[in-house]
Amino acid sequence: TAPELIRNFSIIAHIDHGKSTLADRMLQLTGVVDQRQMRAQYLDRMDIERERGITIKSQAVRMPWEEEGVAYALNMIDTPGHVDFTYEVSRSLAACEGAVLLVDAAQGIEAQTLANLYLAMENDLTIIPVLNKIDLPAAQPEKYAEELAKLIGCEPEDCLKVSGKTGMGVEALLGEIVRKVPAPVGNPDAPARAMIFDSVYDTYRGVVTYVRVVDGMLHPRERIALMSTKTTHELLEIGVSSPEPVPTKGLGVGEVGYLITGVKDVRQSKVGDTVTNNAKPASEALEGYREPLPMVFSGLYPIDGSDYGPLREALDKLKLSDAALVYEPESSVALGFGFRCGFLGLLHLEIVRERLEREFGLDLISTAPNVVYEVTMEDRTQITVTNPSEFPGGKIDEVREPVVRATMLAPSEFIGSIMELCQERRGALRGMDYLSEDRVEMRYTLPLAEIVFDFFDQLKSRTRGYASLDYEPDGDQVAKLVKVDILLQGEPVDAFSTIVHADKAYSYGVMMTGKLRKLIPRQQFEVPIQAAIGARVIARETISAIRKDVLAKCYGGDISRKRKLLERQKEGKKRMKMVGRVEVPQEAFIAALSSD
Ligand code: GTP
Repeated sequence: TAPELIRNFSIIAHIDHGKSTLADRMLQLTGVVDQRQMRAQYLDRMDIERERGITIKSQAVRMPWEEEGVAYALNMIDTPGHVDFTYEVSRSLAACEGAVLLVDAAQGIEAQTLANLYLAMENDLTIIPVLNKIDLPAAQPEKYAEELAKLIGCEPEDCLKVSGKTGMGVEALLGEIVRKVPAPVGNPDAPARAMIFDSVYDTYRGVVTYVRVVDGMLHPRERIALMSTKTTHELLEIGVSSPEPVPTKGLGVGEVGYLITGVKDVRQSKVGDTVTNNAKPASEALEGYREPLPMVFSGLYPIDGSDYGPLREALDKLKLSDAALVYEPESSVALGFGFRCGFLGLLHLEIVRERLEREFGLDLISTAPNVVYEVTMEDRTQITVTNPSEFPGGKIDEVREPVVRATMLAPSEFIGSIMELCQERRGALRGMDYLSEDRVEMRYTLPLAEIVFDFFDQLKSRTRGYASLDYEPDGDQVAKLVKVDILLQGEPVDAFSTIVHADKAYSYGVMMTGKLRKLIPRQQFEVPIQAAIGARVIARETISAIRKDVLAKCYGGDISRKRKLLERQKEGKKRMKMVGRVEVPQEAFIAALSSD
């Protein structure tokens, strides 16, 4: 297809404003998916995506569309809406010339509407403002058209009004995309350059790499070179997703499609890399992307120790399709052998964990998530701490923790509640703007550690669900942080060590020792449970001694019943972990770790 007839666009929106539903309607209207094959959220292929109703991986689809007698090819790139996956949004946007900015007409502008709009503007995209869900009785399209127009600097009449559910206005939107989004420009005679914007692992086809061609042309069977990894591969197949894969004779300027080279690991076909022709290579690579960095770490342990090998294999497999996941082996007194894993955020953690349990049948326990700390000792040595139990003792000069710039949008009646919450979480107010009379945008600097711990739930509950949140990394800050250890009979239990602000150390200590006292069964001797900062004990509970005798419950008599009880006790013993002389059922550790 000639570049003049191509339109590359993305749909960007706050979570749940209806991107996937609108994409479904477009697939139907353009005829690439027929009625019979249609199912809700066609593009969300992972089970988890469908169940949770969220988009995790980006997708690109080519759709034919005729406008005023001219046949166009529209490439729609669907993007995820959740903060953890912002990096996927930005790389998809770099492959487009335009973006449909979708706003729920019953909700108005939300935090990720802004965040995504800014990303689109950074990429110089043409923005098409659209109000969605106008079929809802609660929709106020006129009111929010004003808000949206003010935000992007257009007239309220320029905002299209659609319903992804009924299909109303979607045809007009496709026409608007053809008219407003610029055609891609590039040099067809230059050496080929294509940008990798996604790389997914497919069990049958190996790695499928999604590209946007900028200059020249790529053909099947030719040898390509990846400019940053300097590897070469034969192009086994090249094609477009429509949305099922359709092989083609080549991809030219402005086209979006997929490549298959037989590579088995997504890391060999890196997002952000430039694909060129090996025989006639381009001299300069295209501008790449920022690599996503893990922000949150947690230990993942198999509940059954013999699942350690399978867990490693499962992580290796997931890594093939999720370049952002990092992990390395670690061991813990309480939990045995497992892995310390790095994630983009809490949702990423939950999804990885759920996939491990569901797709690989593993039972897992994860330790409380923590962020990465930079510790400078008085002798100037630097230590990076990704696991609280590695936090150094000795003379510490300073500890730095990552902070984020958070944006919250809410009805103005909740300003007080939001300020209170941010205060509790060591936030610093950066600014506040009224988007309209009754909606306000608040900007805070907050420690990432305070956000990863139920911040979003608290924000939602204190604003009756009306506030929205978006955040991005914003460097780090010095903070008064300490490590709190939990000791059983004087022995530290590594899985419970945590790094907290000095002001919160006491309440963590009291909470954890109290919880463990209830969970750990009595032993034949007294067991002190202590919380300590270094050698200083800040909280203490005691489990008093008892002679544990399951047979005490049976009065003489029934021998078979006695045997059963003894057997059950033996089985229980296998799952006991020894901490010094103290026997602790693994369930106690699991319960203590998971209840918050
Ligand atoms: P993510 O993929 O998680 O970013 O969400 P999304 O923006 O794709 O939202 P999705 O399409 O999953 O829609 C969210 C919810 O809104 C679903 O329950 C849809 O059924 C509903 N919805 C979407 N569009 C419309 C619409 O036009 N009208 C009405 N009434 N409901 C809609």
